[in-house]
Amino acid sequence: MTSANNGSKKGVIFSGMRPTGLLHLGNYIGALQNWVELQDDYDCIYCAVDIHALTTVESQADAAAIQSNIEDMILDWLAAGLDPERSIIFVQSHVPEVMTLHTLLSMVTPLGWLTRVPTFKEKVRQMDETEETVNYGLVGYPVLQTADIILYKADTVPVGRDQVPHIELSREIARRFNNFFGDTFPEPQAKLTESPLLVGLDGQAKMSKTLDNHLDLAASREDTAKRIMTAFTDPQRTTRSIPGRPEVCNVYSMHKMFSPPTAIGPIYDECVTATRGCVDCKRQLAGSINDFLEPMRERRRKFESRPSYVREILEDGGNRARAIAIRTIEEVYEKMGLAQH
Ligand code: TRP
Ligand code: SF4
Repeated sequence: MTSANNGSKKGVIFSGMRPTGLLHLGNYIGALQNWVELQDDYDCIYCAVDIHALTTVESQADAAAIQSNIEDMILDWLAAGLDPERSIIFVQSHVPEVMTLHTLLSMVTPLGWLTRVPTFKEKVRQMDETEETVNYGLVGYPVLQTADIILYKADTVPVGRDQVPHIELSREIARRFNNFFGDTFPEPQAKLTESPLLVGLDGQAKMSKTLDNHLDLAASREDTAKRIMTAFTDPQRTTRSIPGRPEVCNVYSMHKMFSPPTAIGPIYDECVTATRGCVDCKRQLAGSINDFLEPMRERRRKFESRPSYVREILEDGGNRARAIAIRTIEEVYEKMGLAQH
């Protein structure tokens, strides 16, 4: 793939994840699985966004943690089936042109567009900051995200629902640039993942590492089973003789996603007639989830046995991404009347 779009595919996909370390099953269902499938129909570019991760860092140790998280995350990507032969897999900071584009896009981005974004307001509140004290970098987060996407002239961005306002903003920024300086960028479109949100082991609406209710993709069979055995079930079912309510049970909702379709009817019936205990039910779920994860673990082991593998993938991905980026920056320089050097 020499250009961003080789013409035989539906378009160019770009998506990014902050390198938070090992990924969990919720990340897989919510994003990664979709990323893998999109490789069949699109030219895909997937990025570990380490510069975005710096928006919340206040020490060298925090910053170093981001870099060590990258390798863990990329191994999970590869284990899940991202294919470095077909897709560009790279680290954001390896292509410094994104920071050039970020600066230039900031010239066409009204401040009000940024302070209005719900994720911005939310973050400011979470961090105990105000709109006066918060770092400029956090205000510009969606501008950098826009630069990520349009540097590669990507037109389609697979993201979760929470990111939709960011992609809307990307469209507006791209449109404004085009209006001012001539048609340059496609207006990127969000592509939502259709899979339902994966619940946490504790029954909370969302599986998340911060809530510690998650299942790591790379965990062993034993650890996975052990964690599943701690999952919450129907809270009214305090003893085995009380019939359960699968529709409020998060173990049941995971069965529906990971157990064979033919097993779901019997699980339901046995639960509501109290002929199935929650311990057995969870053991069965652990089996299903472990079977689901096994091919990923297998691939991960293979990649882990080649220590320089991830580095090589990222170097190659970085080179391919950079070749596209340099051409875009040349075009932008020309459109904005900046001197080439
Ligand atoms: N902001 C995204 C998130 O927090 C990560 C991200 C950065 C991204 N750049 C991107 C997503 C470009 C899609 C496209 O999840
Ligand atoms: Fe949930 Fe299974 Fe227990 Fe029913 S038997 S409440 S589905 S864990």
